[in-house]
Amino acid sequence: MRILKFQLPASHELVLAGDLHDGSLFSFEDGFLECREYVLSQSNRRLWLMGDMQEAIIIDDPRYDIASHQSLPYQSKNHVVDMLRPLGKQLLGGVIGNHEWKLRRFANLWLEICNELSTDTHRIEYGTMSAVLEIWSLSDPPDLMYKVFVHHGSFLTLRSQAKDFEQQQGNIKATFKRRMAPLMSDCLVMAAGHTHRLMVVPPTERLYLYSANDKLQQGYLTQGNNGEYINPDQRWYVNTGSFYKLYAAREGHDGIPHSGYAEQRGYEPMEIGFASLVCHDHKLREIKAIKL
Ligand SMILES: [Fe+2]
Repeated sequence: MRILKFQLPASHELVLAGDLHDGSLFSFEDGFLECREYVLSQSNRRLWLMGDMQEAIIIDDPRYDIASHQSLPYQSKNHVVDMLRPLGKQLLGGVIGNHEWKLRRFANLWLEICNELSTDTHRIEYGTMSAVLEIWSLSDPPDLMYKVFVHHGSFLTLRSQAKDFEQQQGNIKATFKRRMAPLMSDCLVMAAGHTHRLMVVPPTERLYLYSANDKLQQGYLTQGNNGEYINPDQRWYVNTGSFYKLYAAREGHDGIPHSGYAEQRGYEPMEIGFASLVCHDHKLREIKAIKL
């Protein structure tokens, strides 16, 4: 766990993206390059990575992608570095995923990536597996605009047995909130990757009644502020998607497309993409799910 402070313009976008799984036959590199382009196309956009940027596969693994020659962990690491380098100061850092964690038996490759991309004037922050990102303004003195709790999300399984689609979505969102909310109390945004689901749950807009000046009044629950405890219903929750395909487009080492775990288990297709936190004039206004 780390607590990290960043100073950003009063109006900016903080993009959260991860689960590229580089080195896997299912990794959708073009999609990630589109995300990189999205960040680079405006100077007030920043990127925080959510983990699993590379797949934990070694040469005897059936997912080993012999065609690309990128599947050995260090080759994949170098490839991720090459993909991230053009982001320069617009890349803030990222958390480690369970895949990099598995490879950590012989090297902490995510830490190496962060160190390799860091310069004398800009550090790429190694977030460990979870971190609080404090987003401060550039003003003097700076003011705290909002906090984001980020976790790779390796503990999450989001499924529902409900028969109706809406009910299923509701159950999944409720489980996500329930698992994330207790992990940190004062963050306006609770974010995780790992599940490959691209999903935003905004603060609950619930109608309430009260009395004032001898009259009945009404109001709506809105998003919380930066107090030390924000009601779980008044926070944003974001599951940051992936760049990982259900069916492999490329061939495995046996010359035919490999059927991955998602195909074997009959997982439903999920949108590929990433999320973007839109802050305007010091205030978080919206979280966009950007589907590719
Ligand atoms: Fe993961």
